[in-house]
Amino acid sequence: MEIIIQPTYAKLVAVSAEIVRDALLKKPNLVLGLATGSTPIGLYEALIRMHKTDGLDFSEVTTFNLDEYVGIPPNHPYSYHTFMETHFFSAINIPSENCHIPQSTAVAHEEFCERYEATIVAAGGIDIQILGIGKDGHIGFNEPSSSLGSRTRIKTLTQSTLEANAPHFGDSVDAVPKMAITMGVGTIMDAKQCLLLASGESKAAAIAHAVEGPITAEVPASVLQMHPRTIVVIDEAAALQLKRVDYYKQVYANKQKLLSSG
Ligand code: F6R
Repeated sequence: MEIIIQPTYAKLVAVSAEIVRDALLKKPNLVLGLATGSTPIGLYEALIRMHKTDGLDFSEVTTFNLDEYVGIPPNHPYSYHTFMETHFFSAINIPSENCHIPQSTAVAHEEFCERYEATIVAAGGIDIQILGIGKDGHIGFNEPSSSLGSRTRIKTLTQSTLEANAPHFGDSVDAVPKMAITMGVGTIMDAKQCLLLASGESKAAAIAHAVEGPITAEVPASVLQMHPRTIVVIDEAAALQLKRVDYYKQVYANKQKLLSSG
């Protein structure tokens, strides 16, 4: 795991946007795994700026979103379809047929989930999977106790996740859908690279457990310790409970020095 600690959310966004941009410049038909939630919004805004000012081209990009609530239509104001359209897709030049988001209204859920996995494989697999992390260590909607080998399926959301998402549903926990379709932990682990973003002190415990704790289904993000190419980009507040902050900063500074000299 590479841990990059930045002083602020703005800097975290800048570093992660550069990682995605560099990958896209190297591979114009990049396959991106996308997350919703508040954390990646700044990243999407930065990529939109790069598209508008530098002509960063998304015309050959394919995307797969991690998850979607079950039981609300795609055009619902709080669906992840609407979120992605509002915060990213409508502002870049990505063809809509290249954007994949789990279908919350699919009748045959199991068949849909199998097809979603097959579509990812047919696209050549995910090159970079963008991830946020829940306070309880979830990635996607893989709540604590999710199998570390799980694939795309329906999950019931925990009370903590319902409460965290209530602000998007008019501050009403009751209004938050109780289930979601989510890529599994195993699906996420198949991505060639994972880019986990976290900001703020409320994520500090989850980050410490995920990065320095034991690998356990109780903290699904901890399995990323087994992933050969995971980059964790966090701000100082989210790094507050990490033990090896100095070492992570030293590693990053050395890498920057090497890159600028070479
Ligand atoms: C969203 C997702 C979730 C979020 C996580 C953090 O697609 O998969 O795992 O990344 O709940 O959400 P925020 O960024 O709102 O704190």
